[in-house]
Amino acid sequence: MITCKIFGEPIETDAVCDELETISYVDASKDLHSDEDIIFNGAKSFLKFSYPLLKDDIVYGLGETMGGINKRGRSYVSYNTDDPHHRDSMKSMYGAHNFFVIDGETSVGYFFDSPARITFDVDVENSCRVDVTVETLDLKLYNIVGESAYDVTKQFLNIIGRSFVPPLWAFGYGQSRWGYKNHKDIDEVISNYQKVGIPLDYVCLDIDYMDRYIDFTVNEKRFPDMKEYVWEKKRTGIHLVPIVDAGIKVEPGNETYETGVKNGFFSTNEDDNPFQAAVWPGMTHFPDFFQKEAREWFGNEYHKLTDLGFEGFWNDMNEPSIFYSEYSTKQSRLDQALDFLMPSRAEKKEGSKNNSYHDYHHFYHKVEKKRMCHHDVHNLFGAFMTRASGEGLQKLLPNRYLLFSRSSYIGAHKYGGIWTGDNHSSFAMLRQNLIHMASLNMCGFLYTGADTGGFGGNCSRELMLRWLAFSDFTPLMRNHSAIGTKKQECYRYKRTDDFKRVIALRYRLLPYIYSEFMKALIHKDMYMKPLGFVYPKDEKARRVEDQLMVGEGIMIAPILEAGETHRSVYLPEEMVHVRFDGENFYEDVMPKGDSLITVPLNEVVFFIRKDHSIVVTRHLSMNTAQLDLRDVKPIGYDVDYDQYIDDGYSKLTN
Ligand code: GLC
Repeated sequence: MITCKIFGEPIETDAVCDELETISYVDASKDLHSDEDIIFNGAKSFLKFSYPLLKDDIVYGLGETMGGINKRGRSYVSYNTDDPHHRDSMKSMYGAHNFFVIDGETSVGYFFDSPARITFDVDVENSCRVDVTVETLDLKLYNIVGESAYDVTKQFLNIIGRSFVPPLWAFGYGQSRWGYKNHKDIDEVISNYQKVGIPLDYVCLDIDYMDRYIDFTVNEKRFPDMKEYVWEKKRTGIHLVPIVDAGIKVEPGNETYETGVKNGFFSTNEDDNPFQAAVWPGMTHFPDFFQKEAREWFGNEYHKLTDLGFEGFWNDMNEPSIFYSEYSTKQSRLDQALDFLMPSRAEKKEGSKNNSYHDYHHFYHKVEKKRMCHHDVHNLFGAFMTRASGEGLQKLLPNRYLLFSRSSYIGAHKYGGIWTGDNHSSFAMLRQNLIHMASLNMCGFLYTGADTGGFGGNCSRELMLRWLAFSDFTPLMRNHSAIGTKKQECYRYKRTDDFKRVIALRYRLLPYIYSEFMKALIHKDMYMKPLGFVYPKDEKARRVEDQLMVGEGIMIAPILEAGETHRSVYLPEEMVHVRFDGENFYEDVMPKGDSLITVPLNEVVFFIRKDHSIVVTRHLSMNTAQLDLRDVKPIGYDVDYDQYIDDGYSKLTN
């Protein structure tokens, strides 16, 4: 049962599909008792809500946030933020995913559908409450009652609609790095992977492929014939995936800029002129993604890239990230740079307002014919960029496209996936990646993954192998790192055979991964789940924070600690323990309960659920173009596996 309480006049966020019979709508404004439910805060009033928690309740959800699978004991703030210091105490990340489920004797979910800033205090200081403060009086609040956390989540996934459908090649292994300058650098990456026999499906092009970081342009000195180059690579089974940033360079002669200005498609400042802020290309204007016409125009701009043969894109800097603006100084940029170099400096400033936060109060959008301050609709900006790109690409390309964004809001999953932003090379970030996968899947973001190996910092051989062994199971499997860090392509490390073994598992498992992903997508289900969703009656399974279910048949328990080759695993039922040594799968049955497993650095271990089987390819392919989804063998229990197969590129028809 789903009820939607409407407070004030909320704007359309595109998160929940229209007019669903399963939802009953209630006008709730008249229920407000100002002293209990409204916080008067100077000129603005906020809504507040409070839900009691029982001692053993688990709170699941909130998507891309720090903290555990169980969100108790912390505060989270939905206010999309570009902050590369993913420290434990951080409250806001790149996305706003305002859905959580309280699961215990009863299971109930809440979705706070508003693009405003929202704070979730989840059992902070053992308050035994979830306290939510919404910084607006306009809100749709969905309330979902179900039989279990999983049931509530499935009802939620049903109302927010089907996830975007990536092509099969997007499930291959991808290499990326900020710093690849020209076609020679890209060729070197591809040939080095080929030399060591590690499969590869795509290489990402970061900002250096553009002419002075101007969106929808190509630097012709670096890539003299981009169209021929893109097609040449595609013929060898490698896709190139360019980045697109949110800001459009202010420069006469830049066609995108000129058309945007002429048509009033940019966000405006207090004087109603296009708002100016500096990002990579220098001063830029931000498209006003809240206007339908501006979205259509921006989405169509991708034709400048699809005409060259590109079929995959990553959208970045779309919180939006601002270095400085007409309202804030370059000093702030320096301040940010110092924070990046000295994380302890940033740590001390926790809670203080950063540069972008100040700027967000100084620009405006046309939202449903109203003029609204960016701050009040902030959390939708990146999502609406994804919406613009996705809708554009659906028209421009006859087949599926790949798209993943940094910033997001629930609803954007219909147009593209996300990656979890600028993490760093540490085992703590690998663990966070696992947690994110569970809670993002609850919000419809099935196609997601982190920068494998870490974006900032230097990735050790051990960390890269352990991270790859986890990323083997995430739909987006991309190795990405920042300029200035130690280069982390797999062939740069000693004994590359070990990397080949770990990535080989991904390619051998692809028929299962693709099948389970597509089944979850079609049935509006989760691809990766916390154990408590599958074993809700098993109190021990409900408390597991470092294992996940992958599809219907697999459970994983990756090594998440430095220097470890053993770990304890909890099996909620008897399972087949599978070891993969790069060539062969070794299976043995393990009983329900706690076990200690050994996982050498060059092996991957996973489990197949009781009475389930999976399929793996018989041979290793070097990319998905060479992969035959039908040439498979079963492993696990002696039952049939119901495999979903399609051509991997045609659009889904229903
Ligand atoms: C941002 C992105 C990162 C990218 C860099 C340069 O930090 O998050 O992935 O490499 O910008 O474009």
